[in-house]
Amino acid sequence: MCILVVVLGLAAAFFALLDVWYFLRAFLAVLRARLQPVVKDLLKEHTFSGLVLPHDLDFLLHMNNSRYLREADFARLSFFTRSGLFGALHSLGAGMVMAACTVRYRRSLRLLETFEIRTRLLCWDDKAFYVEQRFVSPRDGFVCAVLLSRQHIMGISPDKVVQSMCKRKVESPEFPDELMHWINYNDNSSQKLRAESGISNSTKDQ
Ligand SMILES: *[C@@H]1O[C@H](CO)[C@@H](O)[C@H](O)[C@H]1NC(C)=O
Ligand SMILES: *[C@@H]1O[C@H](CO)[C@@H](O)[C@H](O)[C@H]1NC(C)=O
Ligand SMILES: *[C@@H]1O[C@H](CO)[C@@H](O)[C@H](O)[C@H]1NC(C)=O
Repeated sequence: MCILVVVLGLAAAFFALLDVWYFLRAFLAVLRARLQPVVKDLLKEHTFSGLVLPHDLDFLLHMNNSRYLREADFARLSFFTRSGLFGALHSLGAGMVMAACTVRYRRSLRLLETFEIRTRLLCWDDKAFYVEQRFVSPRDGFVCAVLLSRQHIMGISPDKVVQSMCKRKVESPEFPDELMHWINYNDNSSQKLRAESGISNSTKDQ
């Protein structure tokens, strides 16, 4: 009886203090991806399915805007695991962190609507990988939202990571136009904020 109370108390504290569902889903996404065979082609599109639940709704009764980012996280975790990118980073002692992200919302996702998150590695430069994620409705193929992110690689250049995965040097694919604009926007914003705070251009922070 006493043990049961302690266990329940601990569980309650856990749920109150931590976003337990986030960690659980992230863990399951990685576990599932690990059980599936590795996809050798790093540029291959990866599909992750989702469903809009009552918990995801906001005042307008559609999936709330932050939820897209959260779902995209799970899809990326799955993609990075399946493509072997996480494994490569780990064996190289390197790390990855999201340095920028933008979302365009094009059509609402309603209650109980299913969607697919199609994740693609677009290209890379000397510091980061650029990833596109599309929320696609299987009903009519419409892209309901599109997300661009910059995955900053720490400790090594993305080139070297790709080289270690492919066992040869691979050039990055061409940068799509809208991505070039977005990268310029990020640089512009970064320089403006640096100028405002008087930080020199040489620091790594953006
Ligand atoms: C919206 O999404 C966030 C992140 O997934 C979640 O924590 C929150 O409970 C959701 N609901 C509302 C109404 O914002
Ligand atoms: C940002 O972009 C604008 C328009 O292209 C340009 O005039 C401005 O000089 C840029 N600012 C910085 C800090 O690069
Ligand atoms: C940083 O570099 C930009 C141009 O690349 C320049 O306009 C700006 O004045 C520099 N800022 C500082 C604080 O040196």
